[in-house]
Amino acid sequence: MAKVNMEYSDYFEYVMKRMRTNGLLLTSWKDDGSANAMTIGWGMIGIIWSRPLWQVLVRPSRYTYQLLERQPFFCVNVMPEEYNRALQICGTKSGRDYDKLSLAGITAEKGSACGAPVIKESIIHYECQIVHKNDFVPEQMVPDIREGNYPSGDFHRVYWGQIIDCKVDEQAMKTLQTS
Ligand SMILES: Cc1cc2nc3c(=O)[nH]c(=O)nc-3n(C[C@H](O)[C@H](O)[C@H](O)COP(=O)(O)O)c2cc1C
Repeated sequence: MAKVNMEYSDYFEYVMKRMRTNGLLLTSWKDDGSANAMTIGWGMIGIIWSRPLWQVLVRPSRYTYQLLERQPFFCVNVMPEEYNRALQICGTKSGRDYDKLSLAGITAEKGSACGAPVIKESIIHYECQIVHKNDFVPEQMVPDIREGNYPSGDFHRVYWGQIIDCKVDEQAMKTLQTS
């Protein structure tokens, strides 16, 4: 079923639940034109500068970090539960070493809004344009967060993506809600 436009705040509870349980897929393009997908468990949707935004957190050690440093867009993809194994693969292997999409049995296409890689099997996706990025300031962090999450440094960079377009497979969402 084709996806339709939605408000950035629609299905918020479902998206947050998927993010904190199995994760979402953050996608970017590799230099060879294929897509890379990295599982993310931390992120925020909100409004700043009167713009709807996704904030995603990427550690410098990730291949995705390297890719986002040289492209202006990313996509956040919400996968239905039957793709939990794909989320596991994309969260434990690096796109430096693998074609993770084939390994995970998922496919990407160019998004219609800004050309970010959209995972076809996703149930919801957000095409985002990077409008700001910043690094955490370790000295400003409470010690338990710093020590608990960054024992070896590798402090996340926060990418602020303006949501240019978001779409949902309504039929699939209805099936989920009634099952
Ligand atoms: C459930 C889950 C959530 C994750 N969340 C994040 C995250 O928010 N930020 C991050 O930098 N890494 C996160 N990771 C780790 C990356 O997904 C993992 O290191 C991945 O292999 C990086 O892929 P890449 O090297 O192709 O970019 C998460 C992993 C899992 C399994």
